[in-house]
Amino acid sequence: MSPQPGRTLSSDVLGEIPDPRARDLRSGVRFPSLVTAREVDELVRPAIRQAVSGLPDGVRRVVEYHSGWSSGSAGGGKALRSALVLAAARAVGGDVRHAVPGAVAVELVHDFSLLHDDVIDGDRMRRHRPAAWVRFGTGAAVLAGDALWALALQVLGQAGNATALGTLIRTMADLMRGQSEDVAFESRNDVTVDEYRSMAEDKTGALLGGACALGALLGGASPDQAGQLELFGRHLGIAFQCADDVLGIWGRPERTGKPVGSDVAARKKTFPVLAALADPGDAGRRLAEMYRRADRPAERECALMADLIEQAGGRTAVDAEAERQVGMALACLDRAGLAPARCEDLRLFASWAVHRDH
Ligand code: IPE
Ligand code: IPE
Ligand code: MG
Ligand code: MG
Repeated sequence: MSPQPGRTLSSDVLGEIPDPRARDLRSGVRFPSLVTAREVDELVRPAIRQAVSGLPDGVRRVVEYHSGWSSGSAGGGKALRSALVLAAARAVGGDVRHAVPGAVAVELVHDFSLLHDDVIDGDRMRRHRPAAWVRFGTGAAVLAGDALWALALQVLGQAGNATALGTLIRTMADLMRGQSEDVAFESRNDVTVDEYRSMAEDKTGALLGGACALGALLGGASPDQAGQLELFGRHLGIAFQCADDVLGIWGRPERTGKPVGSDVAARKKTFPVLAALADPGDAGRRLAEMYRRADRPAERECALMADLIEQAGGRTAVDAEAERQVGMALACLDRAGLAPARCEDLRLFASWAVHRDH
């Protein structure tokens, strides 16, 4: 089915979508692009709340907490994936309002993946507060995630674009494979950098790529353009994950709102770790010894591992990999053959994704 640029956005799930030009800017500057930040605030966040408001009470309360809407819980996510949907729609010359169902759907999928991810990783902090599973229990967090996945399909289904819906389903299948590989790597000592790239492309790149593809499709792009934008997002996703790997080792919890050190404690095979393990020097050897041990390291040992990773060149290597992936992302954007002025936001996001501290 082809995109339907003229389709009205009002629907049972989303409600009426306001014209962004009619509103004042309420957003703090979270993004490099004020235009997209404003559109996310004015068009997407209210539509997400509207969609979530129809969930059964039990799961809705968990989602509200996870999203930072409950009293006493500060702040939600950055909404990067929604922003990419809108920026991609603009890049192909579409009306961003037609892309709102895609923007809502990818953010719901993202929140679903985070609810489950914290259970899988055993991480107790998310967005500056106890993770949903810590606050409500594992069952409630898993169910809330499941509900968001169903809701995402429902919201996007109402846009009436079968290609877009198929893209989201394919994206989810890849994300699941990536998460499963990420967990399997914890107990392997022979993970290669290529395997990491493939895992990161699946667990994180799939959704960033899916976001770009959905924005393009709902904005009326050709399949070729949507394909190039999907590849742009996939490379960007690997770069984004590299930056997340850095923040998980050397970040500041007061900025990230997430635990620091838990990746190394779980023996995650993140990019900086793999690069450091390949170092033949003393730091690399000591790190490899600590990574082979089965017991969960204490906080002091995690700090030592972080130092060893840096000494063995892991930080330099991951920064270089992130930049390389951004370069490949931008090359895909060039290949889409779009008007450069319309792609400005996507370019800004590409650079921001790797130079962030949260
Ligand atoms: C966290 O994503 C999960 C990763 C893919 C690294 P974000 O950093 O975009 O999470 P929020 O939505 O802003 O909390
Ligand atoms: C990111 O997982 C990908 C998904 C959640 C699907 P991570 O485990 O690397 O992300 P954080 O650091 O917990 O946000
Ligand atoms: Mg995690
Ligand atoms: Mg994880």
